[in-house]
Amino acid sequence: MAIPESFLEELNARTDIVDLVSSYVSLQKKAGRYWGCCPFHSEKTPSFSVRPDKQMYYCFGCHKGGGVISFVMEQENVGFADAVAILAQRAGLPMPEVNEDAGQRKRRAHLLELNKEAARYFYGNLREPDAEPARQYLAQRGLSKRTVTQFGIGYSFPQGDRLMNAMIDKGYSKRDLLDVGLCVANNKGRIYDRFRGRVMFPIIDLRGNVIGFGGRVLDDSIPKYLNSPDSPIYNKSRNLFAMNIVKKSKAGKIILTEGYMDTISLHQGGFDYAVASLGTSLTEEHARLLAKYTKEVILSYDGDTAGIAAAQRAIGILSKVGVSVKVLKITGAKDPDEFIKKYGHNAFQRLLDGSENQIDYRLAQIQQKYDLTNDEQKVAYLQDAAQMLARLSSPVEREVYGGKAASAAGIDRKIMTDEIDRQRKNTGWKQRKQAERAMLNPAANAQPEDRRFRYQNPRSARAEEGVIRLVLLENSLFEQATELSPEQFSSPLLAKIYSVLLRRWEENLSLDLNSLSAELSGDEMSHLSKLMQEVDSPANGEAALRDYVLVILRECARSKFDKNSSDEELLQLIQQKQQRQK
Ligand code: GTP
Ligand code: MN
Repeated sequence: MAIPESFLEELNARTDIVDLVSSYVSLQKKAGRYWGCCPFHSEKTPSFSVRPDKQMYYCFGCHKGGGVISFVMEQENVGFADAVAILAQRAGLPMPEVNEDAGQRKRRAHLLELNKEAARYFYGNLREPDAEPARQYLAQRGLSKRTVTQFGIGYSFPQGDRLMNAMIDKGYSKRDLLDVGLCVANNKGRIYDRFRGRVMFPIIDLRGNVIGFGGRVLDDSIPKYLNSPDSPIYNKSRNLFAMNIVKKSKAGKIILTEGYMDTISLHQGGFDYAVASLGTSLTEEHARLLAKYTKEVILSYDGDTAGIAAAQRAIGILSKVGVSVKVLKITGAKDPDEFIKKYGHNAFQRLLDGSENQIDYRLAQIQQKYDLTNDEQKVAYLQDAAQMLARLSSPVEREVYGGKAASAAGIDRKIMTDEIDRQRKNTGWKQRKQAERAMLNPAANAQPEDRRFRYQNPRSARAEEGVIRLVLLENSLFEQATELSPEQFSSPLLAKIYSVLLRRWEENLSLDLNSLSAELSGDEMSHLSKLMQEVDSPANGEAALRDYVLVILRECARSKFDKNSSDEELLQLIQQKQQRQK
């Protein structure tokens, strides 16, 4: 990181986290913490906590956490350097001059400027005489002049050097063009335009920057779409097409589609709250972005099998961030674009009005698997549906949907509710068993929320968490842990966190949570914040640390031996280690 440490420390000292968070969320003090409704997922009862003593926040609902810098990164959807700049402005601190980061920021600004010029150029092309095929194509797809202007739709000529030459004339270099992905180099080193003979859709972020492009062919050739690659200024898993327009919509909900054309057609058809993911499946970052702007997402995916599978997946991801999900069932057309052009605004509005909530949708999916005229299949359907409904926590919902499921199959309502109850008892029992097991083995219930971070060795990982917690609480405890190296950690995530801490300690840098957000990703910061929620008193820190280190060494040694190795061998190894530690 090229922003000087001293500056980050001062920034941290000058920023009161309660003040900062309060400008977005209303907080209430309770038992040494401040509580509010989480800004990163929608909720009605506060599970978002802020601790002024540690300058950190943590949400017990969605498990996001970090310090003041991560908060701004998350809240404003910006990178580290931009978050620092925002905080500096807020604290009235001038940003430190002449360092690499200022250089990086300049570079990004330059590349964004290039993209904006390119978007203007593509848009201007539509008025050139040789853009006739593109004009015809847009007309044939029914896009009005107004829509073309609103979305800044343009055209790239087929020749392969026209954009490049135009941008070079404006003072940009080939390096610039390659960096944003507007040009590509072939294996002989020749550089040419990436987008040739395509209708161009600029992708615009929440601040109005052109961060990338999608380009569609005018015919049936492949690939149908080309998209800008991820670059210093573009990340497709963090941005949604048309979000810059939708954020101003008054609708209070957001329609999520799969395609540029779907979203554009919906806007033209009077639905100013449609967005599209950018040629990728929905990510958790997308979901969090959506949750920031709405409590209700309506999935409007293609009606084919791929679309249905994608919708199922999206329901899971969106439910996790606490937005309610409805699913639109498109019939008589392959996608929303085709539908609204064929049947018009009112028909689409009726679809929206009748859109199924996710329970209806799942029931319908289950129902499709069975032939309900066949008695045996009817029974299987009953069990399958009851299993899904048994997981609903609201008795009213179980009652309502149980009734629906029963009547769909022509089964007596009572039979369905009995089956749901039976399955609930079953799962209730399973859950109790699971809880019991977790109690007996406390290491087992401490798995990270994020599946990527699953602990292979929970026992060791708990101790690794303990070490990290202790040295963060009481930095001087590092003196006692010098024998411990990150390689001995069982969890790669915790090893990474520990090695960052260790390096900073050795370099005499500050060890507050905030200073780590430059080196750890948002998800890593969240996990770190989570493990900081547990209580470990620094008072008997030395003893606790010794215990933790011992567990780690023991587990590490154990993993190096095969299961048959004797306890004596193990013990010996540990004793050797301990000897050296003294
Ligand atoms: P039209 O055929 O113009 O109506 O496009 P569409 O928006 O309906 O596209 P489709 O449903 O085929 O695909 C949905 C989205 O997936 C598109 O908007 C693109 O973002 C992406 N996509 C489609 N085809 C390709 C491709 O060949 N390459 C890449 N990278 N992305 C594609
Ligand atoms: Mn389409």
